[in-house]
Amino acid sequence: MSTILTSLEIKELRRDFPLLAQKVYGHPLVYLDNAATTQKPNQVLETLDTYYKQYNSNVHRGVHHLSQVATDAYEAARKTVADYIDAGEDKEVIFTKGTTDGINLVASCFGKAMLKPGDSVVITAMEHHSNIVPWQMICEEKGATLKVIPFNTYGELELDKLDSLLDDSVRILALTYVSNSLATINPVKKIIAAAHEKIFLFYWTGHKRYNT
Ligand SMILES: Cc1ncc(COP(=O)(O)O)c(C=O)c1O
Repeated sequence: MSTILTSLEIKELRRDFPLLAQKVYGHPLVYLDNAATTQKPNQVLETLDTYYKQYNSNVHRGVHHLSQVATDAYEAARKTVADYIDAGEDKEVIFTKGTTDGINLVASCFGKAMLKPGDSVVITAMEHHSNIVPWQMICEEKGATLKVIPFNTYGELELDKLDSLLDDSVRILALTYVSNSLATINPVKKIIAAAHEKIFLFYWTGHKRYNT
């Protein structure tokens, strides 16, 4: 579902971000490099300020008061995020340092456990390095093949190739939803449905089927 904001709502939203109050080259600053570094609204800046001034300490590691306060706040944030993305359970939300860190974690845990020689992983030609290199590394380590869905001159994925790419060797499909360099919004629902139809019948701890 996409939401179109009115110019008034955009003005109000911009007011939350102090960094956007400045002019650059004589124009109000418009910042679009959010996939690399996202600007923080006052709500986040103030929370960080309070954290460092009042309860900066280890989460889940200390028995002292500050650690308890930090742990409660950390877990409350996990719940807020889980509710926002409609996760089944809070523990489905794992905080990482960023995209590269997160994908490396998936590749080195899930990929390491699931891939064997002859298997393959599918990505697309429009991925950022952070969704290429972790898969290249784990494929090399496990003797698996990395396959790539190409895109056409309109910047759209060549989905007619999907059927042949998603063969029996595929264990993992990892792709971007929206490309920030091409502005392409990939039809991920359709792609995921195709993937679920053909691949991913993983059994974890013998009883649970992972279809993600
Ligand atoms: C589109 C895109 N994806 C992923 C990344 C990597 O993000 P991170 O720095 O969180 O690893 C970037 C960073 O520039 C990016 O622009």
